[in-house]
Amino acid sequence: MVLGLLGCGESQLSDSYAGVATSVTADAHCQLLAESEALVGVSPEGEAWVEGDDGVRHVLPDGSSTAVDASFTRADSLVAWDAAAAFVVGDNSLWSASVEGAEPLTLPPELGKPRFVCGDPERASGAFVITTRGLFERHDDLWLRWSFPVELLESMKIQDLEGACAGQDSLMYLEAGESLWEVRSGDIASLREAADLGGMIAVGPDIRVGFIALRDGELLRFDGSDWVSIPFDEGSVSVAGVADGVLWAAVDGLIYRRNRFDEWEYLDAPMLPSVIEEIRSYAAGGAWLVRENQLCHVEPHGTLRVRGVRPYGRLAEGSRFSVAVSGDPAMGGSLSARLDGQGVGVSGAAGAWSLSGPETLSPGWHTLSLVLDSPVDSVQRTLEFWVEGGETDEHSPPPGEPTVFWEADIAPIYERSCAPCHAEGANQTFMGSFEAFSALGALALERVSSGEMPPPGASASAPPLSAEELQLLQTWVQEGMNP
Ligand code: HEC
Repeated sequence: MVLGLLGCGESQLSDSYAGVATSVTADAHCQLLAESEALVGVSPEGEAWVEGDDGVRHVLPDGSSTAVDASFTRADSLVAWDAAAAFVVGDNSLWSASVEGAEPLTLPPELGKPRFVCGDPERASGAFVITTRGLFERHDDLWLRWSFPVELLESMKIQDLEGACAGQDSLMYLEAGESLWEVRSGDIASLREAADLGGMIAVGPDIRVGFIALRDGELLRFDGSDWVSIPFDEGSVSVAGVADGVLWAAVDGLIYRRNRFDEWEYLDAPMLPSVIEEIRSYAAGGAWLVRENQLCHVEPHGTLRVRGVRPYGRLAEGSRFSVAVSGDPAMGGSLSARLDGQGVGVSGAAGAWSLSGPETLSPGWHTLSLVLDSPVDSVQRTLEFWVEGGETDEHSPPPGEPTVFWEADIAPIYERSCAPCHAEGANQTFMGSFEAFSALGALALERVSSGEMPPPGASASAPPLSAEELQLLQTWVQEGMNP
């Protein structure tokens, strides 16, 4: 037996399992964790960081691991940033760690000693640190202090979003005391105590789903004002994870995934039947699981990894667009990519593509959407990132108030032209709710603009969109898809 490799292989897709409509095949492999070791961070593309008495290890999704020559003795907080780096608080200092080692990062002494970090503190804007003196945000090279009840500092943690502190709408969640706090970044006045977390286990925030928590085996979602139960019939959930709109849940050693269409799927992976203690799912589509003394990686076939930009990452002014995408070569098929709705060049073979777009990226938010059309499945991934420069301020809302809304403008178009095939019980992907439609928003715009949807042959039952309606759909997507 290969040392540390406990289970490896792949099983066949089964049609149904335990009342869950579909199942997804996944590869899984496990390795042993030393007794002192714990999983301390996972990047959006799936690199994991493990820490124990013997130091820190960087573990790749294929299971290979590298010991990191760290200068700190213990990581008190670690944010796995991208393929190369993690930001660490250790020994009362801030560090940037990579497989090459750890470099100290300096903080102005008046900030006090760091206790928690979120985001890339080396960039001029966007990172947060919690110190012995308060919560600080880095903005235009300055560290701004947030007013926050001091007695909560001790227990305060930022619930990071795919490794970043906040997403495009700059909403950030803090866990402090028994409460969940909601912060509109850049605007101190909008810090508010949002919900009671008493008796709950916080799972984390997600742009599409909201904030997820577990209470007595039940999955809950914070919708901005209340906790709402997430229906799930397979039993009491022991642990959960959430990333990029996809929720993962474990019940008695079995794993389920709730896809972006609100359907639960059973994950058909060769797992050993034992208690799963932790799930860290990540944006590219896989997850790391901890159970007893094992660390397991689970990867469904439709996992698309991106190099060159990271979700909610900040690129320097004038950065080039240079992105590589990797996936499972066995999926076959072709990849198409769009940057802010415009097609970008894709070259390379199945499973390893490179994208070529504009020479330099304009300042502001950008959306990269990927669609892999394969004989096995159709996979999509959307990623938002920020480019510094110009007059734009990431905290400012898009210019003007939103003008187009799901309820008033888009739902009627859906009812007339899409519902015949995309309603509940119809044959195609369910798109008949705000959540379901907006999860596919960028793709819907693309399929409609290209004339593919509604299919031209169906014009009698599902008339095509007028130029005006197409414009509405486009504006709605650009404005961030308002309900
Ligand atoms: C006559 C039936 C029909 C109508 C009407 C229709 N579609 Fe579709 N749609 C399909 C079929 C079939 C597929 C799957 C094959 C494909 O992807 O081309 C599909 C796939 C899609 C997908 C990809 C879904 C996925 O899971 O990958 C999107 C997005 C989509 N349609 C959007 C729309 C929108 C928006 C409308 C209305 C403006 C619409 N469709 C109207 C038949 C229809």
